[in-house]
Amino acid sequence: MTTKDSVNRLNVLSAQDWLKFTKTWFVHNPSPRKKNELLHPAKYPENLIAEFIRFFTKPGALVFDPFLGTGSTLIACHQTERNGVGIELQKKYVQIARERITALESQWKLTAEGGKQICKQLVLQGNSIWIDKLWKEYSLPQVDLVITSPPYGPMLNKKGLASQKREEEGLDVQYSTDPEDLGNASSYDEFVQRLMDIFVQIKPHIKPDGYLVVILQNYMEKGEYKTLAWDVGKELAKHFQLRGEKIWCQDNKTLYPYGYKYSFVPNVHHHYCLILKHKNVDK
Ligand SMILES: C[S@@+](CC[C@H](N)C(=O)[O-])C[C@H]1O[C@@H](n2cnc3c(N)ncnc32)[C@H](O)[C@@H]1O
Repeated sequence: MTTKDSVNRLNVLSAQDWLKFTKTWFVHNPSPRKKNELLHPAKYPENLIAEFIRFFTKPGALVFDPFLGTGSTLIACHQTERNGVGIELQKKYVQIARERITALESQWKLTAEGGKQICKQLVLQGNSIWIDKLWKEYSLPQVDLVITSPPYGPMLNKKGLASQKREEEGLDVQYSTDPEDLGNASSYDEFVQRLMDIFVQIKPHIKPDGYLVVILQNYMEKGEYKTLAWDVGKELAKHFQLRGEKIWCQDNKTLYPYGYKYSFVPNVHHHYCLILKHKNVDK
């Protein structure tokens, strides 16, 4: 017989791997992107997401990403044998996501050993604010985990040296000019408000014991430091139970001489992975 405390209700990790994950910072340097992934301005690494998925779910669980981009979350779901659903506004990124998943699934069919669980990945095109409609249309159940990186603030005024280089290479420096795109919000406050509206719509579609992980960054804009990760964390905590953060550090990024010889201007090479849970469930 097993007691309540001897059963791991969250995941299938060893005690050692569980402990390791609870450290609040880590270094992860993404491997170079493939050609079809370069177009998108801000793809996150699948291996990093796979670690979160392994901690917050068991195999066969359902994971959701409301800002899917090139589909990295669903690639991580496939690698970890979880099911995934993602919503992405822009057709060009939806296409990249679908191509990446199809390529992986056909490879999987050739190499899968008997007995391995085959999970499904679903890419939906649309605005995440309409999650209720999409969930009904596809008869989707509540999810175990939401993990995502929304646009990192309104993109309008963010023209640094890094984006100049991308522009020269013919790569996207903003996701679109679509007014439905959160990145095109007309102000910082409007951006935070619209982002929160989406998370509030998403909440009923998460299981009562499910988690939400939101990856964001603070940033400098025209001499003002925007505390986006902290502001969104504070707003989210009004609707969810804030459990903490893991800080993702990158130490292989180019250092640009912003402010050199006149003022401190940070090269922000860390991201906040904010971790939240439904409110009022067991501690
Ligand atoms: C930071 S990127 C996500 C990148 C993704 N994690 C990846 O690895 O490719 C944010 C994405 O949100 C999308 N987006 C912006 N507003 C949206 C909305 N209202 N609904 C759905 N997607 C949206 C953008 O087109 C962009 O691809």
